Amino acid sequence: MKRIPIIIDCDPGHDDALMLMLAFGSERFDIKAISTSAGNQTQEKTVSNALKLLTLMERRVPVFRGAEKPLLRDLIIADYVHGETGLDGPSLPQPIFEAEPIPAVEGLALILQQSEEKLTIVPTGPLTNIALLISVYPQIKDKIERISLMGGGIFRGNISPLAEFNIYADPEAAAIVFSSGVPITMAGLDVTHRALVFQEDIIQFRKIGTQTGKVAADLLDFFSKFYRENRLELNGGAALHDPCAIAWLMEPEIFKSKACYVQVETQGQLTTGTTVVDFYNVLSQTPNVEVLYDLDRKRYIEMLADALAKLP
Ligand code: BDR
Ligand code: CA
Repeated sequence: MKRIPIIIDCDPGHDDALMLMLAFGSERFDIKAISTSAGNQTQEKTVSNALKLLTLMERRVPVFRGAEKPLLRDLIIADYVHGETGLDGPSLPQPIFEAEPIPAVEGLALILQQSEEKLTIVPTGPLTNIALLISVYPQIKDKIERISLMGGGIFRGNISPLAEFNIYADPEAAAIVFSSGVPITMAGLDVTHRALVFQEDIIQFRKIGTQTGKVAADLLDFFSKFYRENRLELNGGAALHDPCAIAWLMEPEIFKSKACYVQVETQGQLTTGTTVVDFYNVLSQTPNVEVLYDLDRKRYIEMLADALAKLP
């Protein structure tokens, strides 16, 4: 089977870490590079976390440092979920290599320009780097097959009543990406709050017996505490958001989705950072986003377990 060529832009982050484990462990992807966004923690910490995770998984791809802050706004971080380091819980190895010497926007542009085939971009943090990339190098859009991202939602928010963290953190960047004309798949909170990981799944991951399986379980132990204490309606499950953006590329048939017209609110008094999804196409606009809203949770967990079993 031909591997799917991708670039990952992430802000590890516990669920970003599980996303990287799924991407590297599944062997379905030709991962050209990773860039890091500031989001769950500062840029300094997310880039260091990406290097630590690659060291743990004994994988090496170019890692590019992304923007230090959102396009226009002050940086907000999600340390209330991901802790002081961004990956609180496990003990992680020190990185055995460094980030590339050029910034993400230049590094990703070079990779896309030099690629003979179109590449898919998988962003699982705020969209600052991707907005910069397509603003500074607009012709590069022709080299992007699709953007499969985690962010937004139809019906609910998690940082404000209607806005999801990744979009809210840099709404101007998200607005640039959503209106770019590049095909987008959006794994928002509707689907990720069904992508639940429970205690028994964490036990199963730990039993795999590998160093990566143990770190995955330690990460999820820490991460799921926030959900157990703050999202009682999930019945002890933790919303494992970011791996959805990768899992859809692997097995789209396990998801339910609908093509919709989606724009990002940047001005609203109460709704800044909301993805406004025209689910019933009342505006009669051409859909620009494949919106995911449900998945086969059991299969999702199986895919994660399979990937973890293939990593050291
Ligand atoms: C998103 O925000 C981050 O905290 C997670 O890593 C995920 O990408 C969920 O709203
Ligand atoms: Ca993330």
